[in-house]
Amino acid sequence: MSTSVFVATGQEVELLERFNQNQHQGRDGQASAAREIREKFKTMSSNKLSPQFWNISDIFINDIISHFAYTSYLEIGIGEGLNFARVRCETKVSVDISPGNNPISTPMHVMSSDDFFAMNESNFDLVFIDGAHHSEQVIRDIENSLSVLNSNGMILCHDVNPGTEEMQIVPRVQSEWTGDCWKAWVRCRSTMNDLSMLTLDVPYGMGVIAPGASPNPLDPIHEANLTWPNFVANREKWLNLVSLGQAAELLLHVSSAHPGVRR
Ligand SMILES: C[S@@+](CC[C@H](N)C(=O)[O-])C[C@H]1O[C@@H](n2cnc3c(N)ncnc32)[C@H](O)[C@@H]1O
Repeated sequence: MSTSVFVATGQEVELLERFNQNQHQGRDGQASAAREIREKFKTMSSNKLSPQFWNISDIFINDIISHFAYTSYLEIGIGEGLNFARVRCETKVSVDISPGNNPISTPMHVMSSDDFFAMNESNFDLVFIDGAHHSEQVIRDIENSLSVLNSNGMILCHDVNPGTEEMQIVPRVQSEWTGDCWKAWVRCRSTMNDLSMLTLDVPYGMGVIAPGASPNPLDPIHEANLTWPNFVANREKWLNLVSLGQAAELLLHVSSAHPGVRR
């Protein structure tokens, strides 16, 4: 297994431990630890954060839900269900190909995302795509999510910023794995210029599709050029990589009057 690019510092580990402890001490304690971590994210690039931080997605998911007053949330791929359990939203729907092994990890729909979208009749404000990590599947998940997204809705797409070559190889060669979700993201960035797509610089990268045409679209990229060396050389531009602090500025200024992203 290759070494992670993320480096844990003492301060960071302490913050993480406090966050984990505070989860058992009620919402106030958790919220204050979350605020502290968010402040830290604003000034730190993901290559200074440890991989344990991957599981704080719910902090900004809950921020987005509360800021935009979203009422419906869909998570594709819930794994252990820890993120899904922490998300606060009026209507939550979970889908996973695996049945889980306890109440938290048991999805409402035990099926593939393709099968779910084929039978689903609901629309959603926020979709979190974190299922199969193969680019072709991620593209289908993005397209299907766009077709069920409410106007002014948003899509989040995990694992679009792998730190090492090994962690993005398909099929999987090590436990720390993003798959080649980045290829799906870059392809969509270069073909869906009517969408605003940015990547939060958090561990493994969280892609965000928000209403509005991209201010910095990508020119079409030939499939043959989607190689690891090219990705490393063009990472920031291809992903539209922004810090959590910058993203907050960008996302919070999305106009509620915008027609939205649904297709
Ligand atoms: C990385 S885990 C999800 C983690 C979770 N979102 C979280 O933040 O805690 C990926 C999950 O996707 C599920 N999965 C894989 N392929 C899938 C597919 N085609 N459709 C739906 N779920 C899938 C796996 O069973 C696994 O539980």
